[in-house]
Amino acid sequence: MKEPATNPLGMTSPASQLIRRRYSCRTYLPEPIAAAQQRRLIEFMAADAAGPLGSQARFALLAAAPGDASALKRLGTYGFIKGATGFIVGAVRRAPNDLEDYGYLLERVVLTATGLDLGTCWLGGTFTRSSFVRRFGGLRRGETMPAVVSVGLIGDDGSERIREREEGSRRLPSSELFFERGFDEPLDLGRAGAYAEALEAVRTAPSATNKQPWRIVRDGAFWHFYLRRTKGYGKGSALFTVLRIADLQRVDLGIAMCHFELVAREYDAAGSWGVRDPGIPLPGQDTEYVVTWMAGA
Ligand SMILES: Cc1cc2nc3c(=O)[nH]c(=O)nc-3n(C[C@H](O)[C@H](O)[C@H](O)COP(=O)(O)O)c2cc1C
Repeated sequence: MKEPATNPLGMTSPASQLIRRRYSCRTYLPEPIAAAQQRRLIEFMAADAAGPLGSQARFALLAAAPGDASALKRLGTYGFIKGATGFIVGAVRRAPNDLEDYGYLLERVVLTATGLDLGTCWLGGTFTRSSFVRRFGGLRRGETMPAVVSVGLIGDDGSERIREREEGSRRLPSSELFFERGFDEPLDLGRAGAYAEALEAVRTAPSATNKQPWRIVRDGAFWHFYLRRTKGYGKGSALFTVLRIADLQRVDLGIAMCHFELVAREYDAAGSWGVRDPGIPLPGQDTEYVVTWMAGA
């Protein structure tokens, strides 16, 4: 059955537009997030707790009350984020694809915030995890908090914002990201139909230190998603071991899944996710299979 071509976030703007508008906003106005906007965000989070790969997550909005913009200051973002009046925090229960599911679910909240004209920035490295966990009310057994998102009224409407946008808009060309049947043949976007837009939405997705670790191989109706790890990231690396930084590139992959699916559905292209490794030869040890979008299924 065909999915209706509405925006699954319940927004008036199509997902592709929200994706184009989103960027990492690191400077916020002191005014608190309006109560109505807070309500919309909270409602959306409450409705959204199971990831496409089966992990359970929960989210909360930590928002400063009117006249108390300093309330969240102590949370700690190492000076990267200026004046945020809110943070979206969350936790996911440990499971094989927990980090991908977390990225997928939290990016939906990010785009919902974008639709409410709020600025956001993912924080995976530059936040004091312990103080955020405390404000969240603690973690339950088996849960982790892989990343949080700052949120608030956009305060960088000048040259800084433009610079951030340009900085953040550096992206790899699609010929290095998307392939046909195997990793040797770049995908001809002209033959991707509605999926050309979904791929562009992946290309412009946010990723930790803008590494864009996603790779996609199309084989007919199957769109196989791979993670190409950056050296020094992920399990086993010194950073992971010493700083206990979560495997952020798997979160990036979940964000890419979110963008891909939202825009595919916007263009009326139905499908579903499944883990079905096709056994395509990998270009190197740094690349691993993660998940497949099965178009029409
Ligand atoms: C999982 C994840 C973690 C991130 N962690 C941080 C962070 O700790 N500090 C920060 O300033 N930006 C962080 N970012 C934002 C990225 O630097 C940003 O998305 C990327 O440079 C692309 O820019 P754009 O979001 O403006 O398109 C993170 C992004 C993602 C997806």
